[in-house]
Amino acid sequence: MQDTILILDFGSQYTQLIARRVRELNVYSEIHPWDKCPEITSNIKGVILSGSPFSVRDEKAPKIDLSKIKGKVPLLGVCFGAQYMAHNFGGEVAASDTREYGRANIVSHNSENDLLKGIGEQSQVWMSHGDSIKTLPSNFDVIASTADVKNAAYSVQEEKTYGIQFHPEVYHSTDGATIIFNFVVSIAGCLQDWTPDAFVDSTVDALKEQLGDDRVILGLSGGVDSTVAATLLHHAIGSNLHCIFVNNGLLRKNEYAEVLESYKGMGLNVKGVDASELFYSALKGLTDPEEKRKAIGKVFVDVFDEESKLVENAKWLGQGTIYPDVIESVSVTGGPSQTIKSHHNVGGLPDYMKLKVVEPLKSLFKDEVRRVGKSLGISPAILGRHPFPGPGLGIRILGEVTPDKVAILQEVDAVFIGELKSAGLYDEVWQAGAIFLPVNTVGVMGDERTYENAVALRAVTSTDGMTADWCHLPYEVLGKISNKIINQVKGINRVTYDISSKPPATIEWE
Ligand code: XMP
Repeated sequence: MQDTILILDFGSQYTQLIARRVRELNVYSEIHPWDKCPEITSNIKGVILSGSPFSVRDEKAPKIDLSKIKGKVPLLGVCFGAQYMAHNFGGEVAASDTREYGRANIVSHNSENDLLKGIGEQSQVWMSHGDSIKTLPSNFDVIASTADVKNAAYSVQEEKTYGIQFHPEVYHSTDGATIIFNFVVSIAGCLQDWTPDAFVDSTVDALKEQLGDDRVILGLSGGVDSTVAATLLHHAIGSNLHCIFVNNGLLRKNEYAEVLESYKGMGLNVKGVDASELFYSALKGLTDPEEKRKAIGKVFVDVFDEESKLVENAKWLGQGTIYPDVIESVSVTGGPSQTIKSHHNVGGLPDYMKLKVVEPLKSLFKDEVRRVGKSLGISPAILGRHPFPGPGLGIRILGEVTPDKVAILQEVDAVFIGELKSAGLYDEVWQAGAIFLPVNTVGVMGDERTYENAVALRAVTSTDGMTADWCHLPYEVLGKISNKIINQVKGINRVTYDISSKPPATIEWE
């Protein structure tokens, strides 16, 4: 079994970053909510307690029983996690005289301490806390301080238990990676063997074992996740994998044919289903964004359902679900989060289909999926594709969707993306696309008055789509794109550029 670092999440905004830093060391890590701590099996080599928006002094603060962990496996408390242990084992935690946010310098008292070995004499760290550990429990030793915080790091050496008041997982903590390495590799003794190649080998073996001679159906979207999931499954079960690629009539220009062709080149068993007309008729007359999303989702399910019935004896549904979709984050408010948009992905299928679900990527972050894809030999052109929403151009045409508008928007989008590629900017942009606006504007072409549609261009930088900034594309490139669209795409006489960040705007307009 894989050496694993278990991260118990108390609701910090940085918990996912801890997991990523551990994985960057080629060591597998998993996040679990603090109140759903799994059994500490022998492959769990160390445990990290995350930060939290709570104060340990708060009545409602999370309270966890550490008796099966502390002293049994190496344990590192970060921020709240460090305060929690100090508070619970006889120390004192109180409100800081001044709230500490941002940079601070720690001075290590013992350069030989296992946790702090190799860090500079004065090391910049990132603080974000309103409480401080005033006194430590009697058997805890202080190992580092800052100008304002005496107990910035502590250890209980014989137990391999450690606490740090700062956040080693953020890049601003300059020796953060060293501290995480010290804990994960030197102290917990994890082998650094969790590489993309190793992931492919072990996943293919596990899939063979899990699926045997069963048949699997999988909806391909042309995107990175479903393609990598399909390729892994193909390596495991070959022609027992049946992929379905649905043309919803809302794809990019030539995308249906091109993607289908590229899948065939990869040896995948793919059936293309052109259901454009069904989608267009379901969208007729609809203008509300949520109604449009739901209509597209429903037709997709119907088409997929019909097609999957044709695959005799299919027992499994393959899905490209990735880790951020399955991490159960700790709700700070206790309430369900508000639905901003009802996202639809290939694979969001109803229970009545009675298929078991197989999700080979559900432990990976997006960048890890790309690395696994590379190790599987998938072309950089597919792996580097911008994300594209399941409902496609349907949510980029504001108001009613018609085939004519789709055709116009496909042309606009093709010019935009083509120019980004030829300017060498495509890979620097996280996502780009065009939006068909439901407004006509007056223009003049030659000597003639025009009264045609306006479009908006959107290009954003982001790491995960949760937050995004509008991309500062060079004016010359924007100018060239605008000229080309107005000159080449019939029906468009005005181009605008969206300069909103997320939040408060979302990436898609609907
Ligand atoms: P928003 O508009 O919520 O989008 O800021 C964030 C990211 O999600 C993509 N998106 C979707 N992806 N199905 C998908 O598979 C959907 O229904 C969907 N809606 C938005 C969007 O393109 C961006 O990358």
